[in-house]
Amino acid sequence: MKIGFFDSGIGGITVLHEALRVLPLEKYIYYADTKNVPYGTKTKDQIKEYVFKAIEFIVQQEVDAVVIACNTATSAAVEDVRKAFNIPIIGMEPAVKPAVERNINRDKRVLVTATEFTLKEEKLKNLIEKVDNDNIIDLLPLPGLVEFAERFEFREEVVLPYLVEQLSKFNLDNYGTIVLGCTHFPLFKDVFRKIIPTRMDMIDGSSGTVKNLKKILENKGCASEGSREIIFYQSGIKIVDETTLLKYNKLLKRLDEISEI
Ligand code: SIN
Repeated sequence: MKIGFFDSGIGGITVLHEALRVLPLEKYIYYADTKNVPYGTKTKDQIKEYVFKAIEFIVQQEVDAVVIACNTATSAAVEDVRKAFNIPIIGMEPAVKPAVERNINRDKRVLVTATEFTLKEEKLKNLIEKVDNDNIIDLLPLPGLVEFAERFEFREEVVLPYLVEQLSKFNLDNYGTIVLGCTHFPLFKDVFRKIIPTRMDMIDGSSGTVKNLKKILENKGCASEGSREIIFYQSGIKIVDETTLLKYNKLLKRLDEISEI
């Protein structure tokens, strides 16, 4: 199987990491739209334009399916690109439903974090309206984490003060789960863990998305490639320089270390 992954930048690597765990022996292409990142601060029309361009490029690489491994791009464009391309396109969804199910009988609240764009979009509003009958959800935009990630800035002394300040707007003792509703955020799970209470859990959309991807490919009758290959692109240009490739591979290693936190 050949699978295309797309994100505004490096956040989608958190979903690719999960795919490599579940479907380790396939061909992957990973497209980071580094020319236009971050998407969270752009208009819906701009984001749609970027997403169309990226998916067009990925489809030309003859993939069996495309994963939009970006919550912002999914919110803005998934319905439109599904109509335009004759290929399975799997999007992200903040893990709001499982988070509410976990907390509804525990008398705890749920904190949903994402980009400002994702939090304001109709898609998330509709989802919350459907599942949050008891009004236990609060929202927190964390655009700074996208910027840190894109600068490959993971040092605790830099990220921790930002997260402490943002999370201090809420009394975390009242919360049972934090939803990481942007694919960049799981890259900072170790820093979140330093701040949130021990019994509070973190949940993101990667595993649901990859389960969905696997099911779709199986139903399509796609055969396994039998060996792993990952090709990285930045806004349509294949990455060949060793330094950048090393940075991307280091991110996968970082995720190996922190994903069980
Ligand atoms: C961004 O590009 O602003 C973040 C993308 C995301 O929501 O995953």
